[in-house]
Amino acid sequence: MTALQIVPSILSADLGRLGNQVREAQSAGARAIHIDVMDGHFVPPITFGPAILHAVRAATDLPLEVHLMVSNPEAQVDAFIAAGAQTVIVHIETTSHMHRLAQSIRAQGARAAVTLNPGTPLTALEGVIADVDQVQVMGVNPGWGGQPFIPATLDRVRALRDWLDRQGLHAALEVDGGVNESTIASVAQAGATMVIAGSALYNDRESVMDAMARLRRALAPDEAQ
Ligand code: DX5
Ligand code: ZN
Repeated sequence: MTALQIVPSILSADLGRLGNQVREAQSAGARAIHIDVMDGHFVPPITFGPAILHAVRAATDLPLEVHLMVSNPEAQVDAFIAAGAQTVIVHIETTSHMHRLAQSIRAQGARAAVTLNPGTPLTALEGVIADVDQVQVMGVNPGWGGQPFIPATLDRVRALRDWLDRQGLHAALEVDGGVNESTIASVAQAGATMVIAGSALYNDRESVMDAMARLRRALAPDEAQ
């Protein structure tokens, strides 16, 4: 089984101390930071724009991945890459031109990633899976942190693991939403290579360092990275 990378999402961080919260994640061993961009249209909440990426970029040299939960992502991608995104995650539901958009993301030197809602069939990925660097499976309906993991996600991760392996594809397989100490081991066993952790890492019960250690303990020793 591949070792699992745990990527912090700042959605549940204390934004009044954003720089510190990012540095705490880095000290706890994070190797990337996940930034959830919501536009109040594709999903109800509104969150972060490129200015927040600049602020995170100033706090850390870790790679930043931007999860675009926005309508018309074509209009937004370039600004986020210019603001420092190394990976851009696009919802397949938001564009008729996912393949072209992935090419454009790569042409600008960033990694192209595609994600899909829990209700979207995996077959939607057919035409693009060979031409992206990362496939993300939502473990919750996008829009909010702290929601319970949808159990059917595990079958979807297993199916995608199988699909990627059978075709000899090396895209990262990431699960976003509902990952915590109760669910992380089964997500790893299903074949994910990366998980996003928001409320499991940023909460008022413990430090980011302790929370990261707790998540790693929930994995077998050879699975944590
Ligand atoms: C949800 C976001 C997630 C969110 C995960 O729409 O895409 O990245 O931060 O939060 P948790 O880990 O609390 O489910
Ligand atoms: Zn996300």
